[in-house]
This record gives sequence, C-alpha cells and structure tokens, in this order.
Amino acid sequence: MQLIDGKKISIEIKAEIAQEVKNIKNNGGKIPHLAAILVGHDGGSETYVANKVKSCEEVGFKSTLICFEDNVTEKELLSKVNELNNNNGIDGFIVQLPLPKHINKQAVIEAINPCKDVDGFHPVNIGRTVLGMPSFVSATPFGIIELLKRYKIQTSGKHCVVLGRSNIVGRPISILLSQKGSYGDATVTVLHSRSKYLEQICSTADIIIAALGQPEFVKANMVKEGAVVIDVGTTRVKSKLTKSGFKITGDVKFDEVAPKCSFITPVPGGVGPMTIVSLLKNTLLASKKEIYS
Ligand code: GUN
Repeated sequence: MQLIDGKKISIEIKAEIAQEVKNIKNNGGKIPHLAAILVGHDGGSETYVANKVKSCEEVGFKSTLICFEDNVTEKELLSKVNELNNNNGIDGFIVQLPLPKHINKQAVIEAINPCKDVDGFHPVNIGRTVLGMPSFVSATPFGIIELLKRYKIQTSGKHCVVLGRSNIVGRPISILLSQKGSYGDATVTVLHSRSKYLEQICSTADIIIAALGQPEFVKANMVKEGAVVIDVGTTRVKSKLTKSGFKITGDVKFDEVAPKCSFITPVPGGVGPMTIVSLLKNTLLASKKEIYS
C-alpha cells in the first residue's frame, strides 16, 4: 500500500508555480493577480480565504481581498463582480461560498465572466468541461486528476466508482475520468443516496472516489484487493483525542481499508492540500490566457 501524499505534491506544485512566476517577472510579464470576495464572518470561510491569500503570496502572485458585511445587498455584490470583470489588472477571482441566504448564489456565480472564473463554477466552464473543451475545472476534481498524474495511476479502461454526485466534486470528476485521453478513458459509475447494490458495485471498482460527506462510509468489504481509493471527505467529527474536541474525518474507514489498497489518500493530507494549488494553477492559466485566448 502506498500513501498518496497530497501535502508533499502540493508543496512541489507551489514551487513549480513560484518558478514560473519568477520567469514571468524576469521577462517583464504580468504577475498573476487573484481577487477573492468574502461576505460575512463565517469562521471556516475566513480561514479558507486567508489560506488562499497566503498561498498567493507564497508563489509570488498578487492578491486582493474584498470583504463585505453579512447585510450586503445582492445588487452591491453583483456590482463588485461586474467591477472585477472589467478590471484588466485582475486575472481571476472567486466569491467565497456559502453566501447569506438573502443572496441568490447562482445569480452571483453566473455574473462572473467565465474567463475569470478560476473556481470553475460558472455554467459555461462546466458545459465546456462536459464537451471536452478547454475550461476552468473546479479545485477538487482538478486536484484529484493531478494526484493521479503525479503518482502515474492510469485510468484507461479502469472501472472508477464515484460516490456522490455533487456539482463541485462527484459530477465533474465523473466527467473528467470518462473523457477521451490520458487520465480519462475510464468506465465510470456514479453512485449516490438512491443507488441500489451500492456495496456490491463499489467492491468491483479499480478506483474509488469517495465524495459523499459521510464519515467513514467506505468499509473494507466495499473495496477490492489492490484498489486505488481517493477520499474527498472532510467532515468535522467530535473527538476526545484532540484539543479542539473535533477531528477532520474522511469518507473512508482508513485503518481497515488502507491494507487492501494499492494507493490511498489520507485525511487530512490527501486531496485537501491540492485544492488551493488547483486555484493557483487556474489563476496562472487565466493570466496566461490559456483557456480563453
Ligand atoms: N467554499 C468552500 N469551498 C469553496 C471553493 O472551492 N470556492 C468557493 N468560492 N467557495 C468555497
């Protein structure tokens, strides 16, 4: 069994991006610039956005953080999105989710210019992904494919089972894995809360992507000997073993599943660290106009 070390890979990729930024600077090019809009004071969102800004600094990007109070109106938010769409200095931007209930999240996402949608949440980017066209792919699926590439885990002809059908993980990763080409060409089954024979189907998988958000859902009897298991789950579960009283728990019962696997991602330290790196990669692609020329 080999552990897929997302932390190590994310550090390597950050170093590669930092080198590319140095080269851009030396050649007098434009430094990539990411902006983030944060609404309110949700603790999780504040931490996520702070980490995104810190990661930009680490690789030499410019970053701009725009904060609004909880009571910001949808109109004010849309006006800021429009301003960022028209600001040539900003290569890409994100609106951190969740947003307060009085704001129509979908309207805000759809107001972002797809060329600057480095989260890959805009329907144009999702549609282009489905069609196999160049697109911004959202952070988690992008990160999973990158981990498969870095560990040379081939997917062609493999049976991949994706557990969960969310718009930002399950659905897009199922599309990427079934696409023509390297790190695609897989036979993909998407399983969800209404699926029958879930355990039996799962136990035939060469690769399992667990993205249900149900702690320790995947047990040893659901995993074939030699399977690759990618755990996307990050649920905060009460724990007597940590100072905070919580521990981040994946969707896989790691201790009993790991011995059966050829490769497995730990939680934390697997897919998680890859997500910010994916955002940085998308920002670099945006600044180089590699998706939309
Ligand atoms: N909230 C949790 N994850 C994400 C993400 O990847 N992007 C944005 N914009 N909000 C989030």
